[in-house]
Amino acid sequence: MTEDFYHQTAEYVAVLLRQAWAGLGPALVDVLSGVDTSGGPVVDVGAGTGLGTAVLAAALPGADIIAIEPNPALRTALLTRCVEDDDLARRVTILGADVLAAPLPDRLSVVLAMNVLGHFDPGERRALWGMLADRLAPGGRAILNLQPPTTAVTIPATPMARVRVGDREYLGTAAAEPAGPDVITWTMTYRVEQHGSFVTELTASDHWHVITTAALADEVAEYGLRLMAADPEHELYEITRI
Ligand SMILES: C[S@@+](CC[C@H](N)C(=O)[O-])C[C@H]1O[C@@H](n2cnc3c(N)ncnc32)[C@H](O)[C@@H]1O
Repeated sequence: MTEDFYHQTAEYVAVLLRQAWAGLGPALVDVLSGVDTSGGPVVDVGAGTGLGTAVLAAALPGADIIAIEPNPALRTALLTRCVEDDDLARRVTILGADVLAAPLPDRLSVVLAMNVLGHFDPGERRALWGMLADRLAPGGRAILNLQPPTTAVTIPATPMARVRVGDREYLGTAAAEPAGPDVITWTMTYRVEQHGSFVTELTASDHWHVITTAALADEVAEYGLRLMAADPEHELYEITRI
């Protein structure tokens, strides 16, 4: 389902996610300050167009980065971002894979997972914690965000982002409905207007697995990992070894 979702929506995701990073970027820089990357490369899970990858590269100037992005359209934007910047081109390796099947080094210093955790069902999430338990270097950490809602509730249609490119404006609206005990269906509507007039509209839905911070803390603890709030305002969390 997720593959189809990004296949349909990549163009809009590429334009509209940037607005979320206006707040997330500086918050992530703060969380990364003083992080030791001597233990291994840094991984960006579900890197999208590389908004987080670029923040990682700027905040961690000595680190090699592995950016994992399975969707070919978003990966093309990621490759374009990296190839046009000498520093990113030298330091960022891009893998077109599911993170759970990606060939990763034995030791990782930082694993970033932004705006992505809900794509993993409980079994996949556990596989991710297993991967962290196996590969996080001593002193290493994962950094992720837990976007609301954290329980399966209805979210009425809410404007998410509005971005102007040339004469056109791109607008994103999100609504959610429960689709199971810990699953919601996000329905995204993307609209393009030119000088206020309708140009085109696309509606696409995807499942998203929700989890509360308390349940997530219990889940990662089973793998010898600890969840800690890193920036409550931006719902950023860190996972380290206990
Ligand atoms: C909402 S986008 C976030 C992109 C980027 N992290 C950001 O915040 O700008 C979620 C991304 O996760 C990727 N993704 C979904 N499932 C994945 C998986 N199993 N392994 C790696 N990436 C995945 C999608 O292709 C998509 O690019």
